Amino acid sequence: MLDKSKPNSAVNVPNDLDAFWMPFTANRAFKRAPKMIAGAKDMHYFTTDGRKIIDAAAGMWCSNAGHGRPQISAAIAAQAEALDFSPPFQFGQPKAFELASRIADLAPEGLDHVFFCNSGSEAADTALKIAMAWQQIRGQGGRTRFIGRERGYHGVGFGGTAVGGIGNNRKMFGTLLNGVDHLPATYDRDKQAFSKGEPEYGAHFADALEGLVNLHGANTIAAVIVEPMAGSTGVLPPPKGYLQKLREITRKHGILLIFDEVITGFGRLGHSFAAERYGVTPDMITFAKGVTNGAVPMGGVIASSEIHDAFMSGPDYAIELFHGYTYSAHPLACAAGLATLDLYRDEKLFENAKALEPVFADAVMSLKSEPNVVDIRTLGLTAGIDLAPMADGPGKRGFEAMNSAFHDHDLMLRIAGDTLALTPPLILNADQIGEIVDKVGRVIRAIA
Ligand SMILES: Cc1ncc(COP(=O)(O)O)c(C=O)c1O
Repeated sequence: MLDKSKPNSAVNVPNDLDAFWMPFTANRAFKRAPKMIAGAKDMHYFTTDGRKIIDAAAGMWCSNAGHGRPQISAAIAAQAEALDFSPPFQFGQPKAFELASRIADLAPEGLDHVFFCNSGSEAADTALKIAMAWQQIRGQGGRTRFIGRERGYHGVGFGGTAVGGIGNNRKMFGTLLNGVDHLPATYDRDKQAFSKGEPEYGAHFADALEGLVNLHGANTIAAVIVEPMAGSTGVLPPPKGYLQKLREITRKHGILLIFDEVITGFGRLGHSFAAERYGVTPDMITFAKGVTNGAVPMGGVIASSEIHDAFMSGPDYAIELFHGYTYSAHPLACAAGLATLDLYRDEKLFENAKALEPVFADAVMSLKSEPNVVDIRTLGLTAGIDLAPMADGPGKRGFEAMNSAFHDHDLMLRIAGDTLALTPPLILNADQIGEIVDKVGRVIRAIA
C-alpha cells in the first residue's frame, strides 16, 4: 500500500509499483518480476537494466515504422510549440483536415470522410453509432441490431465489447449492448492447420449471416462488424472468399459492413488497408494504432460518402452528428499522423511488408516441429503460433513463453492465451526475421 502520510509519496518512491493498476495485465505476476522498458529505437526496445530487446510485436501492432523515429518526434514537438490544443467542436486546425485527406486517399474508392477519435475502442463505438444513426436517417430506424463475430475484438467500450466475441472480455459485464448477435469464428484447425495466408477452407462461415438475417429479419439489423483478419484472438486470417461473401450478403439485405482495421490498417498486410488486399469495399473502416506509429493516441472511422452525405441535411447551423471527443483530431496526434504517413510512403514500408510476406511465412512455418506447436498461421507480416496448453491451465504456457522471451531471450512478443503472436515493425529485414524466429524457437523449447 502507498504511504500517503508522506507528501508526494509517489514522487519520493518512484519504484513503488503498487499504485498503477495495469491494463489487461497479470498485475501480481508482473510486479514480482517486472518487464520494464525504458527506451526504444527502430527494431528494438531497451530495458531499464540496459538490455536490448528485439520487438517482434511492433509494440502492440502499432509502431509499424519502428521506434524512436526523429521525423515523428520532431513533428510532435513542433506542433506542441505552435498549437498545443484547439477545440475540435465548431473550430478546426489545418492538420486535422490535411490528415483526413491523406487517410481518405489511402482508403478504397468511395470511402472519403474521416471522423477522428483517440483509440480503436472509440473507433468501434463511433462506427456502430454512425451505423445506427444512418439507418434512422434513411427511414430504417428499426435497424438497431449489430452482428459481430465469435473471437472478434473491437476494443473495450460497451459497444465494442458487445460485438466482440472473446468470452473473458465479456463475461463480467452483464448484458452489454442489447440486440447483438455473432457470426461463427472462421477457424477450423482440422481443415486449416498450418495454412500460409488465407486458408482454402471456410468461405461458407459467412453463410451464417443469412441464418441470422432469417432469425432476426433484415429490417432489424444495422450493421455487421468484423476484423478482416482477427488479430487479438491469436491471428485468424480470413478464408479465401469469406469477406467477399459477407459483402454480398450485407449489400443484398441493406446491412452496413464495417471493417475494423485497427490492426490491419497501415501496411500490416502489405496494403494500406486489408480492404484493398481483398478487393472488398466496406461501408466504414475503423483505424487506430499505426496511424501515428503509436506515438500519440489516435483512432478514427472512414465512412463512405453515401453515409456521410446523408447526415448533411437540415439547417446548416445545426450539428449533424451528436458525437465526438474533446481530443478528436488532437493537434499532436495529427502532426504525428502526417509524419508517420510520410515515413510509410517515403520508405515504402507497405511494399516492404508485401515483399517480405513469403520470407516471413516460410521462416515462421519452420517452427512447425518444435515441441507443443499445434498450429501456425501467417498473413502479411503477422503470425500466430498455437501451443498446446499446459495440463495445469490454459494460457499458462503462453504466459511463460512471453516472460521467457523477455527475461531470457531478449525478445518481445505478444500472446493471446497459448498463442504466440508475431507482428514486427514493417521496417524489418530478412536477417531480423531469422533472428526473431530463432529466438522464438529457443523460447518454445525452454518452456516445453
Ligand atoms: C481490431 C481491434 N479493434 C479495436 C482495438 C482497440 O483498440 P484500443 O486498444 O486502441 O482501444 C484493437 C486493439 O488491439 C483491435 O485489435
